[in-house]
Amino acid sequence: MDKVVVSLGGSIIVPDDRDDVFLNDLANMVDELCDRYQIYLVCGGGRVARYYIRTGRSLGLSEERLDELGIMVTRLNASLVSRALGERAVGKVPHEVLEARRLEHKGKVVVMGGTVPGHTTDAVSAMLAREVRAVRIVNGTSVDAAYTADPRQDPKAKRLSRITHQQLLDLVNVGLHGAGPSHVFDRLGAQIAHDGHIDICIVDGRDMQEMRAAIEGRAIKGTVISD
Ligand code: UTP
Repeated sequence: MDKVVVSLGGSIIVPDDRDDVFLNDLANMVDELCDRYQIYLVCGGGRVARYYIRTGRSLGLSEERLDELGIMVTRLNASLVSRALGERAVGKVPHEVLEARRLEHKGKVVVMGGTVPGHTTDAVSAMLAREVRAVRIVNGTSVDAAYTADPRQDPKAKRLSRITHQQLLDLVNVGLHGAGPSHVFDRLGAQIAHDGHIDICIVDGRDMQEMRAAIEGRAIKGTVISD
């Protein structure tokens, strides 16, 4: 059975916009697919994590302590998603990718958040995909595709339907200097996917048809990143 890691940005899990409806739709979609695909959901922290990190930073906390706050929020989101899935989710939110692999169970979904300080849940998704030999990573995010620049800031930004891992790395590197879509997938995650030849699909995480098509490896409106 093909394994698929789905990275859910915090910005699509709990933006405070009919989140219960989204979580129900997600649970139903996963329920329909999880007998055919071994699905792993990795949850981000979003606005709530950024709030804790910003406030902690003002208090003078170290970067490691701030990351720990972020991780706690990602795990809180993972708990919410796991509970929305009910019996379809394995009962526990693993704290690291090896534990996630151990919890794998046919027909059940592993739901997790962050692992250790120093990276983001995009990187966790890529590490997990490498660990379980997933066929692809589906990044459900708040934009509908990767663009040549941030479409919310640059009206000339072009939508990319298919790029290579190297092109993603180039885009993400540009992003580090303030011009590109660094939010689409983080640099460490992109590097791991590049090295492991793991496809990444960037899709609007709130568009359930897109999410479903990406998990099944069908055509999407978003961006496919492959060798
Ligand atoms: P996210 O994965 O949500 O970070 O983790 P992000 O990419 O900044 O968020 P989005 O995608 O824009 O919504 C939240 C924070 O938790 C810490 C980091 O500080 C991260 O920024 N974190 C998360 C870790 O330190 N380790 C992890 O494994 C995951």
